[in-house]
This record gives sequence, structure tokens and C-alpha cells, in this order.
Amino acid sequence: MTETLQAHALRDFHFLKLGEKTLNDPYPFFARLRKEAPVFEEPDYGVFLVSRFDDIATVSRRTDVFSSIAVASGPFVPLPFNVDKIAQYRADTPELEKLFHNDPPDHSRYRSLVSTLFTPRRLARVEEEICGYIDGLIDAFIDEGRVEFIQAFSHVLPLLVVGSLLGVPKKDNAKFKKLFEDAFAHMDEYFFGNPDGPRVEVPHYAVLREYFTGELVSRRENPTDGLLSDLANARFPDGSEVPLADLVGICVFLYSAGGDSNMPQTLTNGMKFLAQHPDVAQQLRDDPKLIDKFVSESMRYETSALGLFRLALEDVEIGGVTIPKGRFAMILFGSGNHDENYFEKPEEFRLDRPTSRILSFGTGAHTCAGQPLARLQAKLAFTRLTERLSDIKLASSEQSFSYLPSCILRSVRELNLEFTKA
Ligand code: HEM
Repeated sequence: MTETLQAHALRDFHFLKLGEKTLNDPYPFFARLRKEAPVFEEPDYGVFLVSRFDDIATVSRRTDVFSSIAVASGPFVPLPFNVDKIAQYRADTPELEKLFHNDPPDHSRYRSLVSTLFTPRRLARVEEEICGYIDGLIDAFIDEGRVEFIQAFSHVLPLLVVGSLLGVPKKDNAKFKKLFEDAFAHMDEYFFGNPDGPRVEVPHYAVLREYFTGELVSRRENPTDGLLSDLANARFPDGSEVPLADLVGICVFLYSAGGDSNMPQTLTNGMKFLAQHPDVAQQLRDDPKLIDKFVSESMRYETSALGLFRLALEDVEIGGVTIPKGRFAMILFGSGNHDENYFEKPEEFRLDRPTSRILSFGTGAHTCAGQPLARLQAKLAFTRLTERLSDIKLASSEQSFSYLPSCILRSVRELNLEFTKA
């Protein structure tokens, strides 16, 4: 396979257009990028693919010249403003979410509101509850000896956890999941689409905003000791009050970031690896202290957020290549996680890797704000799954995998497993 790929020019891979040479396995392409053209202008959208660890870290750090305004949609949704007019667009679009899509210095004010939400104390308090959810999900399929893991587990647990933290009643989670899927599939069209007319209608977005508005107002009136209450009553570092509408945007984003994007893929990718490597599953059973390492290494090895976009605010040189003002860089976390300069034999899965610095949660000002919760959840999930299930393997029907049609999120669509009850 790799030999055949070597015969193709880099511009033949069409990574952003989900070319078949990269969709199922982008890593050989990433390896060639790092070696032959570490900052590569791909031919379909003129996006500069940034593939080396150090360059990814530089782009992430240089928020003065790289904007996150279209961090997930990049070139896919045409921007209705000129790059010099970002500030004006933000001012005219108060609904624009204030964390993920924002830039310092304003981003820093909002980031301060969420950076203290997932404290060790709060996480310790919810640990037992998370274990309860995990066991409940396993109970539902353990007697079958087989499971489609994504629908039964990885798409359900994160939503239960973040929903519980945000105070969403358990009975509403399934309804909310559907709302989120509809709303988020079109979120960037809502923010950026239709330059000349009214906002593009996004199904259910209004419902979500209305729900969190009500919850936040009630927590402002009657504070509790929960996360939502902390958020409702949080103040900016200068002591000023946070507009309610901005908090609503943060809640909607937290629910989505925690429940519906990377967390499910991370659980799926880790479980797929364990099913394919029973020796590693056994190592974890023998020594559960290795599970933290397993979480990091599986997230490095099979990175769920392959990459995100940054918009150049001026001509800027990265790795010897000038990225012109107004063009996008795509920072390829999945490639940086396999950079030979940081990870010895990156294509090997090693529980004893000395470094724990991975790019799976991003790096710099926008580093994942939910990282402590994500790591805890993955650790508890893999602990209970390896304790309660033995002989985990791919179902005999699972001949080949089909991947999500995305160059940003990487995961199989289905994961059919067989196992015995431990
Ligand atoms: C394994 C699971 C997760 C992975 C791999 C992950 C990964 C990421 C990545 C790559 C970013 C973007 C960084 C950038 O723009 O450079 C991000 C941002 C973010 N994530 Fe996560 N995430 C995970 C789980 C969570 C959870 C559970 C939450 C919260 C409940 C969360 C909340 C956030 C927030 C709020 C941001 C925006 C931070 C900002 O722009 O300042 N994430 N995450």
C-alpha cells in the first residue's frame, strides 16, 4: 500500500476532499508531508497543511496572526467578510460562540470562565456517578456476548456525563442528542452563511438556547453547588458580569464538545485498538495503573481530532513557507502526534513512551478546556470495560471498516465486538 502511495504526487491525495487514499488511513500521507513538504499548499482549497509538531505548536501559539474564527469549517463555508473585517463581523454577530471561534484578548476573558470548571475536587465528586453510568451501559449488553459499541456505549456515555454536569435531566438526554446533531451539523452555516440576507435557519438551535437560558436564569436566582450554577454566576476577571447570551453559547458549546464530538471517537478508537490487541487489554487488566498511559498513547496513535483550521491575518512564514493573508492553515494534530522528532518509532503503540506531550487536545490558548474530564472519563471507561469483559475481539462479521466522511474527526462508523463475561 505505502509503496503504491509513494508513486503519487502529494497533490493527488485530496485530503480535504476525502480522497480515498487518505480517508481510511491518513498516516502514510502525513508521514510524506512531514518529510517532503511540512507546510504544503493543497490543491483543492489552497489550504496550507501544517504537519510537523513544532510548526503546529507555533501556529497554535501565534494567535496574533492566526485567527480561530472558522476553526472547524475552514474553507468549506465561504466567509461573508474580508479578513480585515473580522472584528466588525464579531461585533455585528453577537451570537457567535465566544470560546472555540474566538481570538485573544477577548477569548482569554471567556476562557477564564471555563478554566476552573473541571477542578480535581469537582471531578472527584462526579467519579462515582460516572462509574454508575458506565456500569449501567455495560449491564445492558454484557449478557449478549456481543455489542455494536458505538451506539451502545461511546455515543451515550459522554452525553450522560456532560449532561449531568450541566444539569440536563437524564430523561431529556436522548432528545437533546438529536437536537445537537441537527444543530451542529449546520452551525457554521448559521454563523457564516448567507452573507447578504438573514441568518441561515439552523434546526433546533433556538430550542437549545432557550433551554439553557431558562436554566441559567434559574441558577442566577437560586445558586446551587453545580457546574451550571458556577457558570451562571461567574464573572470576568475584572469583576464585570457576563452577558447571559454569551453564557448560553458556552453551555451549548460545552454540551456539544463534551458529548458529541471527540469524546465518542476517543472511546471508540481505544476500544477498537483493545479488540485488535488482546495482549494490551490483558496488560491493562494485570496492571490498571497503565490505563492513564493507555489513554494518552491510544489518543496519540489514533488521533480523533485529526486537525483544525486557522485563518492567516497577515502574510506569515511557517516552516520556511509563507502563508498569505486571508488563507487557511490546517494544523494536523494527527500528524504532529506521529512526528519522528518527538516520538521514537511513532507507528508503534507503546505503553512505555517517555513523553506524555501529545497534540490530541490541541495546544496553546485554545487547548481543550475539558481535558481533565475527558481523561477521567476515558480512564474510568477503559478500567471498567477491561475488568468486566474478557476476550474482547472484533465480531466475525467485522471484515473491514468504514470511516466517518470527515477530514477533521476520525472514527469508524460501526464497531461490532464479541467478548465473554469476566
Ligand atoms: C477525548 C476527548 C476530547 C478531545 C480529543 C478534545 C479535543 C479538543 C481539541 C483538539 C480542541 C481544539 C483546540 C484548538 O482549537 O486548538 C478542543 C477544544 C475544546 N474542548 Fe475538547 N476535547 C475532548 C473532550 C472535551 C470535553 C469532555 C469537553 C467539555 C465538557 C471539552 C471542551 C472543550 C472546549 C470548551 C474547547 C474550546 C477551548 C477554547 O477554544 O478555548 N472537550 N477540544
